[in-house]
Amino acid sequence: MSYEWTDDLSTKIEWIDNQHKELLKQIDFLALAFDAGKGKEEIIHTLKFLQDYILVHFKDEEELQIKYNYPYYLAHKKLHTEFIEDFNKFKYQVVNHGTSSYLAHEVKQKLNDWLRNHINLVDKRMAEHLMENNDLTSA
Ligand SMILES: [Fe+2]
Ligand SMILES: [Fe+2]
Repeated sequence: MSYEWTDDLSTKIEWIDNQHKELLKQIDFLALAFDAGKGKEEIIHTLKFLQDYILVHFKDEEELQIKYNYPYYLAHKKLHTEFIEDFNKFKYQVVNHGTSSYLAHEVKQKLNDWLRNHINLVDKRMAEHLMENNDLTSA
C-alpha cells in the first residue's frame, strides 16, 4: 500500500498541499511503526502526534472557509468532525486493547483512503472556491 504523495492530489494551493504531504508522511510513519511491531506506548505516541497535526490542519482549512464564505463550510466541517471521531475510536481501541494486525490494517487503510478521498472530492472543491475569491498562494 502506498502512502506516497502523488501530483494528482494537488489542490493547487501550496501550503494546503504541504500540510497534506505532512499528513501522508505521518500516516506512513504510523504504518511503519505498526509493521515493525512497535509496542502500544509508541503507537499511541505516534497516533497522538498525528492527531495533533490533523487538528491543526482541519482548523486551518475551516478558518479560511469561514473567512471566505465557503458555501459548503458546514458539510466540510462535519466530515472533519466525523473523521476525528473515527480517529478517536482507533486510539481508544489501541489504548484499551493494544495493537493487533487487524487493527493495524484497519487504521492504515482507513486513514490513507479517507485522506486521499477527502482531498480529491472535498478539499479540491474548497481550494477552487478559495482561489476564485482570493489570492491564497500562501497561508
Ligand atoms: Fe485537507
Ligand atoms: Fe478538509
